[in-house]
Amino acid sequence: MGEGHLPVLVKEVLALLDIGPGSSVADCTVGGGGHAERILEATSPDGRLLGIDADRAAIAEAERNLERFAPRITLRQANFAAILEVASEEGFVPLDALLFDLGLSSYQLADERRGFSFASSSAPDMRFDEESGLSALDLIDRTSERELAGILATFGEERHARRVAKAILAARQEGRLMTAADLAAVVAGAVGRRGRADQGRIHPATRTFQALRIAVNRELEVLGSALAGGLAALRPGGRMAVIAYHSGEDRIVKRFFARESRDCIEDPMPPVCTCGHRAQLRLLHKGVITPTPDEVARNRRARSARLRGAEKLAAASA
Ligand SMILES: C[S@@+](CC[C@H](N)C(=O)[O-])C[C@H]1O[C@@H](n2cnc3c(N)ncnc32)[C@H](O)[C@@H]1O
Repeated sequence: MGEGHLPVLVKEVLALLDIGPGSSVADCTVGGGGHAERILEATSPDGRLLGIDADRAAIAEAERNLERFAPRITLRQANFAAILEVASEEGFVPLDALLFDLGLSSYQLADERRGFSFASSSAPDMRFDEESGLSALDLIDRTSERELAGILATFGEERHARRVAKAILAARQEGRLMTAADLAAVVAGAVGRRGRADQGRIHPATRTFQALRIAVNRELEVLGSALAGGLAALRPGGRMAVIAYHSGEDRIVKRFFARESRDCIEDPMPPVCTCGHRAQLRLLHKGVITPTPDEVARNRRARSARLRGAEKLAAASA
């Protein structure tokens, strides 16, 4: 399935999750099993791990890589929006800890067939679950220029969204856009030299690829319900950690943690609370945890990682 995947912020995640022998943990984005392996080591000899991934190929990869822990793991192909249902069905509720390491893995990027990378000569598919929803190419074929520009601006923060959307749809109509490599070339051409300078050292199609991937997988839509489901599946005193890789994703995590760590969520806050909301979480650190320069030098994928962690309050319902 291509080259390996280096897990990000491992030491920091393990410290936040505070797990040990016997812990019961859900890795909601098990991927190739990088974090899962370290979690299984930390919970040895009898801890249990539930590994979820939307991608069938990731589940197969995790199964191979985690073979030596087989009696202690349960793997399920599922969308993490269903974490509460899946964890209950598999007998993992209440959980001691759970992890979301969002986005895509190096395995997926390296899998030529999936069209996640700029060099891929396959159609841009970009679905984590290849059996559900529209591929990126289907999405391109079904959106208007305005809608596509909106997707690029909202999910990719692409400053040249309108120009890029126009070029993509024109290239598609003229039969010049069949592969992910074609898509990358069309975007690079549309962004132009000045746009390329704005983008700094990243590939000029980075923002477009990110935006299409987020749209195709409804990444921001499912994250909110996944966090709520994860919190519900935790035992009081259990911990959750989330690694986000771009600002749209991190904003959702930050707001969820902020909301669930406050009693009253009325705005402005009245002298006497009438909303009845009660804090369920305690934040475990100030701000956001980012990788050391050393880690970024070893693993380029870590450069945009932002980790947040919280503990479910003892008084909150399980
Ligand atoms: C960054 S990778 C995880 C890598 C893993 N932590 C490791 O160390 O090997 C993210 C994984 O999350 C999966 N994923 C993304 N969104 C998902 C969703 N909504 N439900 C389930 N899995 C999802 C992707 O398929 C991918 O395999």
